[in-house]
Amino acid sequence: MLAEHPPRRCHTTSDAEGAAMLKKPPRSPSPRQTAEPVPGAGIPRMPGGYPFLGHALQLRFRPLEFVRSLRACGDIVVFRLGPRDAYAVNHPDLIRQMLVTDAKSFMKGRMFEKGRLVARNGLFTSEGDFHLRQRRIIQPLFRRAHIQQYAATMRQIAQAHVDTWRDGQEVRMDRELFDLALTTVTRVLFSTRLDEGRSEAVCRSLPVLLEGLGRRAVAPIDLLDKLPTVMNYRFGKALSLMQSVIEGIIAEHRVRGADTADLLAALLAGRDEETGEGMTDEQVYDEVVTTLIAGTETTAGALSWACYLLSRHPHIQRRLQDELDEQLGDRDITFEDLGKLRFLQQVMAETLRLHPSTWMLMRSPLTVVALGGHVLPAGSTVLFSIYALQRDPALYPHPEEFDPDRWAPDRAAQIKRDAYIPFGAGVRGCAGEQFARAEMAVILAVMLRQYTLSPASGPPAKPIVRLIPMPSAMPLIVHRRPRGHSFQEAP
Ligand code: HEM
Repeated sequence: MLAEHPPRRCHTTSDAEGAAMLKKPPRSPSPRQTAEPVPGAGIPRMPGGYPFLGHALQLRFRPLEFVRSLRACGDIVVFRLGPRDAYAVNHPDLIRQMLVTDAKSFMKGRMFEKGRLVARNGLFTSEGDFHLRQRRIIQPLFRRAHIQQYAATMRQIAQAHVDTWRDGQEVRMDRELFDLALTTVTRVLFSTRLDEGRSEAVCRSLPVLLEGLGRRAVAPIDLLDKLPTVMNYRFGKALSLMQSVIEGIIAEHRVRGADTADLLAALLAGRDEETGEGMTDEQVYDEVVTTLIAGTETTAGALSWACYLLSRHPHIQRRLQDELDEQLGDRDITFEDLGKLRFLQQVMAETLRLHPSTWMLMRSPLTVVALGGHVLPAGSTVLFSIYALQRDPALYPHPEEFDPDRWAPDRAAQIKRDAYIPFGAGVRGCAGEQFARAEMAVILAVMLRQYTLSPASGPPAKPIVRLIPMPSAMPLIVHRRPRGHSFQEAP
């Protein structure tokens, strides 16, 4: 693993610049050069880039190790994406500056331009005033009063899934939770019941699309997207499959008319405050595909990791089940219970620290921007990694350990606020955060009240890094517990 290698020397000039300096005598700087810092100058350079490709291979094949190794070079580091320099920001204060304080000086950049191939001009990828307008229309649907209503449907959906399990059954938890997350988003936000064929189509096409977007975001040259390769062909097929599912969801909703108060109804009825114009069919499509993508694999991944970690830490699982028994007794969970389930919240917080749904995000400065004592060029690619941040040993003691008690109030107070941003921050922070938190809590509560999870035989799960790091195949055995009674140890 890169991170385990002995510390390597970081340079402040590229190899090519170094060679050029040996040949040419240094020129005395002009007065203008001394007065204005040169964008990119003086920033440590990540070693280990390959000719032509730069660090694209490491980003593609060992992404989690690579993003974690960047911080050894400093708070800001230059690396190469093919022929271009790119920058990585590794300090929580500087990440906050990009996302919150100076958010207006940055656009989302290369990764999101590539994302437009699938999410087009939806909330995740759009920019400027258009983004703000769309966010104003969409955000109210994720406020507390709505989440309160959604929670009841979320519980019913989770219960129906769990009711199909049998005592001692081996469940492919990663698949089960993907299906559950997809059903939740489509039923709650689009009032649509996907039949098996359409669920299967999303299940098959979404991983291909996310893999394709992840690959494109770190590709050394753009031409690779356009070559007639098997991967590009599969990407194109997955895109048309997804398109037909989304178009079907919108068409059915239009036929049903205005009898639902969900996100899709709000999109169809949404009006620009200034012009009074509604959304075009394309805009409605863009927001539906964005919500489906942003709201399915993220929550499914986080839930899968939570189940995996609980199955491997039986004492933590037992504490959680004791809390559920104590707080809920025999009644069904409601939205009002969520805040009272303190240990459940700690387990979710710790899962999202170790396994945030994004491993890398990007921004691009609109103008030359000062950051951490350096100057970044306008239009450059700036990467930051929530995954690396939340496993930084300088910010978390024993960062690799699953320790939900680090979120107990007295210990949580010692964690630096900006060191924990699983949902991002600022104006581009996650629109669905409260939805995701409620969904995760409800699903975990419904499952763990009825079943205890234990690992099935097989290798430990590993993150498979697409745009979102998903767990590899995750079979778990579910053991039925007598409802409302204390924990029974899994055999
Ligand atoms: C555990 C689950 C989730 C995690 C960890 C998560 C994480 C994130 C993060 C980190 C961002 C910011 C990206 C950036 O700064 O570039 C984001 C944005 C976004 N998320 Fe989530 N998300 C989750 C679930 C959801 C759900 C359930 C929905 C919708 C149903 C959703 C909708 C969105 C949207 C629309 C954006 C773009 C917001 C904007 O730019 O205005 N997310 N999410």
